[in-house]
Amino acid sequence: MPLTDDAPVPRPNQLIDPYGRTVDYLRVSVTDRCDFRCVYCMAEEMTFLPKAELLTLEELEVLCRRFMAAGIRKIRLTGGEPLVRRNIMQLIRALGAEAKAGALDELTITTNGSQLVKMADDLFDAGVRRVNISLDTLDPDKFRQITRWGDLNKVLDGLRAAQSAGLDVKINAVALKGGNDAELGDMLAWCGDEGFDMTIIEVMPMGDIGTENRLDQYLPLSRVRADLSKRFTLTDIPFRTGGPARYVKVEETGRKLGFITPLTHNFCESCNRVRVTCTGQLFMCLGQDDNADLRRALRDGGEPALDEAIVEAIGRKPKGHDFIIDRRHSNPAVSRHMNVTGG
Ligand code: GTP
Ligand code: 5AD
Ligand code: SF4
Repeated sequence: MPLTDDAPVPRPNQLIDPYGRTVDYLRVSVTDRCDFRCVYCMAEEMTFLPKAELLTLEELEVLCRRFMAAGIRKIRLTGGEPLVRRNIMQLIRALGAEAKAGALDELTITTNGSQLVKMADDLFDAGVRRVNISLDTLDPDKFRQITRWGDLNKVLDGLRAAQSAGLDVKINAVALKGGNDAELGDMLAWCGDEGFDMTIIEVMPMGDIGTENRLDQYLPLSRVRADLSKRFTLTDIPFRTGGPARYVKVEETGRKLGFITPLTHNFCESCNRVRVTCTGQLFMCLGQDDNADLRRALRDGGEPALDEAIVEAIGRKPKGHDFIIDRRHSNPAVSRHMNVTGG
């Protein structure tokens, strides 16, 4: 399939949804597979998509380029674990070149860190400048419990590799009641020592997670913030990345701390993003089921059909999500797992 971007774009270079929000951020889940099995994300036994269902790396590239032609300025690769997809550097190099050339403001990655020892230098070289690394605990046993399959030391080595490659690192920690809540203060201090910003995320009701119970895991971040405030001076700041996090400055460390609170505070009014799965389904909201089949558009009608499908789908972007976790709502709000849409 040609990867040229010559065709004239028959509309202004901006995607605006029905609520007047500009959509300029695309999150692409390049694989649903992962080398971890985090207890809030997956069941231990997962059935992954057959490889034939996936968009090829070439198709993913065409898709990203058509979104860029339509007005996307920032692309984040997610998964599953994006860095376990075979030959993923091919796509990262192609998109990274666009970032270097200024056609994208940013190409970033959300990763569990397991592959960074071998890939961090290549990522920087390709044009990636910032990675978000998921890390919920610094205790090796707890890390094993939470990720089921992960090895903390490998991730910590990956973090160091990212740092020495020149990548900015942000740590993402999901707040887990009775899991890591007692440790979040120490993690924040550690992030300060290491020079990392940190974001704490409320657990979201997505996908069946087997024997685990969301209500047992759920910890509102208002409580976390109150706890952290006993030890740190947290000052609200207006800093935004375009993401859902609301930031404070940690006066004692000088670093930023973000709170992502989909359950206690709805940030949808400023939503700037859509997400594509590795099979080419476009989800206009992380917390809703409506989606558009971009794979079919691309395979049946080529790039013009894809362009049309993108605009049509943005025209259906819903106002927001409605996550609830309580005793009456113990089932997932949406049935797909986070590894499908990539957070
Ligand atoms: P920055 O560019 O660093 O702000 O990244 P980000 O926060 O957009 O990306 P990251 O992948 O680090 O996202 C962290 C987590 O925030 C995701 O994995 C999701 O769990 C959550 N998140 C991101 N976007 C949304 C959203 O639109 N809605 C909801 N409910 N949660 C989101
Ligand atoms: N709720 C909140 N965050 C989640 N993540 C995965 N599943 C969930 C969930 N159910 C987080 C990961 C990672 C990011 C991609 O999404 O920890 O930081
Ligand atoms: Fe893998 Fe990330 Fe899900 Fe953990 S949260 S199982 S690292 S995709």
